[in-house]
Amino acid sequence: MKQVMILAGAGQIGMAIARRVGYGMKIIVGDKNKGNADTIADTMNKAGFDCLAVEMELSSRESIKRVIAKAQEYGDITMLVNAAGVSPSQASIEAILKVDLYGTAILLEEVGKVIAEGGTGVTISSQSGHRMPALTPEQDRLLALTPTEELLSLPMLRPENIENTLHAYQMAKRCNVKRVMAEAVRWGERGARINSISPGIIVTPLAIDEFNGPRGDFYKNMFAKCPAGRPGTADEVANVAELLMRPQGAFITGADFLIDGGATASYFYGPLQPK
Ligand SMILES: NC(=O)c1ccc[n+]([C@@H]2O[C@H](COP(=O)([O-])OP(=O)(O)OC[C@H]3O[C@@H](n4cnc5c(N)ncnc54)[C@H](O)[C@@H]3O)[C@@H](O)[C@H]2O)c1
Repeated sequence: MKQVMILAGAGQIGMAIARRVGYGMKIIVGDKNKGNADTIADTMNKAGFDCLAVEMELSSRESIKRVIAKAQEYGDITMLVNAAGVSPSQASIEAILKVDLYGTAILLEEVGKVIAEGGTGVTISSQSGHRMPALTPEQDRLLALTPTEELLSLPMLRPENIENTLHAYQMAKRCNVKRVMAEAVRWGERGARINSISPGIIVTPLAIDEFNGPRGDFYKNMFAKCPAGRPGTADEVANVAELLMRPQGAFITGADFLIDGGATASYFYGPLQPK
């Protein structure tokens, strides 16, 4: 038997993290696009990793349970990397809420029921959630603690109360961070840790869709005027994940880490401030 990682989302960020921390493990690569999962599994297997590609729909509890059952055939699940998701230019308000918000919530809940002692997880949120103004303490609490199956019925998450796909994405990513806080308490009861990473612009197919989408100029301006002056790479996100998922991060759980080249700082207090 091996230690097992579930990698949800066969994208660039997920692969970078899995390559950094997943050697010696069985890695179950789940993606709704089986072709993406096959590609990542093939690339990694040719580099000495042990991956199995499976079809996985993040917004389906049944699908997540099937992936967990498959993973358990190989051993204890000791790592979760959730890097599956859709961006504001890729999907509708409803799809973003269903996948990024509800899907992430069920994945954290279901893996939290089986994660092994000493296990660790990261879920990828976004700097986008950090640009949205603060919600009320009551709203934050609802996002953190509402039973998963009731989340999408909250009035604040009804599509008629969401302005556009960017707002849906920001609410989803804010919710991810709040779910991670609440789940850290449950995961802690099993001796496991869960954290969130909020990347800024990281060059991946998802970000390239944004560069070519309706907010393309906004994004290009954002990385040009952030303190780093460039977009980031998936490997830099893996640097943070490595700290969080390794024993060096043993005292870190329920936290969110912004890695955005300073774009959020510039948005609030620098040249990226909205006029
Ligand atoms: N790239 C960025 O600039 C950036 C910035 C902030 C946050 N993020 C977040 O990082 C995560 C990973 O994005 P990435 O940039 O690596 O993108 P990517 O496009 O390389 O990978 C995302 C993967 O998720 C899969 N996916 C989409 N919907 C799914 C679903 N319903 N079920 C299962 N799989 C699904 C896609 O098929 C794709 O393979 C996303 O949550 C995204 O919101 C990305």
